[in-house]
Amino acid sequence: MLRAGIINVTSYMGGELVRLLAGHPEVKVTAVTGRSAAGKPLADVFPHLAAQDLMVGERIEEEVDVVFSALPHAASAEQCLPFIRSGIPVIDLSADFRLKDVSEYGDWYSVEHPAPELLDTSVYGLTELHRDEIAVAKVVGNPGCFPTGAVLALAPAVVAGLIEPDIIVDGKSGVSGAGRGLGLSYHFAEANENVSAYALSGHRHLPEMTQELGRLAEAPKPRVTFIPHLIPMNRGILSTCYATLRADSTGSDAKTRLREVYAEFYRGEPFVSVTDAPPQTKQTQGANTCLVYPTVDERTGRLIAVSAIDNLVKGGSGQAIQNMNLMMGLPETLGLSTAGLYP
Ligand SMILES: NC(=O)c1ccc[n+]([C@@H]2O[C@H](COP(=O)([O-])OP(=O)(O)OC[C@H]3O[C@@H](n4cnc5c(N)ncnc54)[C@H](OP(=O)(O)O)[C@@H]3O)[C@@H](O)[C@H]2O)c1
Repeated sequence: MLRAGIINVTSYMGGELVRLLAGHPEVKVTAVTGRSAAGKPLADVFPHLAAQDLMVGERIEEEVDVVFSALPHAASAEQCLPFIRSGIPVIDLSADFRLKDVSEYGDWYSVEHPAPELLDTSVYGLTELHRDEIAVAKVVGNPGCFPTGAVLALAPAVVAGLIEPDIIVDGKSGVSGAGRGLGLSYHFAEANENVSAYALSGHRHLPEMTQELGRLAEAPKPRVTFIPHLIPMNRGILSTCYATLRADSTGSDAKTRLREVYAEFYRGEPFVSVTDAPPQTKQTQGANTCLVYPTVDERTGRLIAVSAIDNLVKGGSGQAIQNMNLMMGLPETLGLSTAGLYP
């Protein structure tokens, strides 16, 4: 069995890593850390994980074969550094190893990057787009939840050159996307029976979307307007993406050709399915799946691509385990066979 350590296990991401890895046949979680819970059984914080019988430590002192970090940005890179320097594979769920341009990281996160020298060799962990690099990486920057859904919805159209570079992403997230920290907007009375747009002047997940879609496109690079919305549900992200189809991509068979492009792009992918009807977040709950539905708005000549994910699984911990499997030379799907919990 490989031994896994989890830094900041008491986050939503950390709890999901323990839950998912409990069913992994080749990996055992042997060390977990947390700040305020240090010295307590994990069951005190997460009773649903009592069967794992883990004690929360301040630091990972034990020898481990792989490390996940679920700390916030900046704190995460700092705590990952000793493991990275020892050559232990690290999957960081924060934003610290996602952006390749260090000045962009500084602009969006308003802190100096703790280890800019690692950005050249760390790999962006959107598995479907970076599989070969992840398999040989020592540091993976696991993607943000919104970019996971949006980039998977748009990638086939961008790669095939079907759309103009102006893209709109309308993202809707459940409340767990904001983590376990307290904030007025996330109180029951504020969030329930309510839908709100936020970060209209720019969300931190936007540069990830432009970085990744930009890699896939010929010039001119895509320009993305991304507006997230908070929805009163626990988990899930629905991304509805719009872009004008290039003139040679329209016509009476545009929808059929578009669906063929998407089906081909995701052929054989274990966790991405092209659906015959618009997907719903509930269909992905608890599972490492991304459901994608592309179609054409014939009146306007626009692509509409809708994707659904569970932000805590394919948008976070599940994808982190998918990446770990590749990094450790294991089959990519190991431990991730749970189907969505529906209804
Ligand atoms: N939530 C999502 O959907 C999602 C998806 C993808 C990626 N991510 C990323 O994954 C990471 C974890 O996210 P999350 O939402 O699961 O977190 P979370 O539930 O918000 O965890 C926050 C907890 O982390 C601890 N913490 C905060 N700052 C710390 C520090 N400087 N040092 C030590 N502990 C600290 C605090 O616990 P104590 O007060 O108990 O110490 C805090 O309650 C973040 O980097 C996030 O951006 C989140």
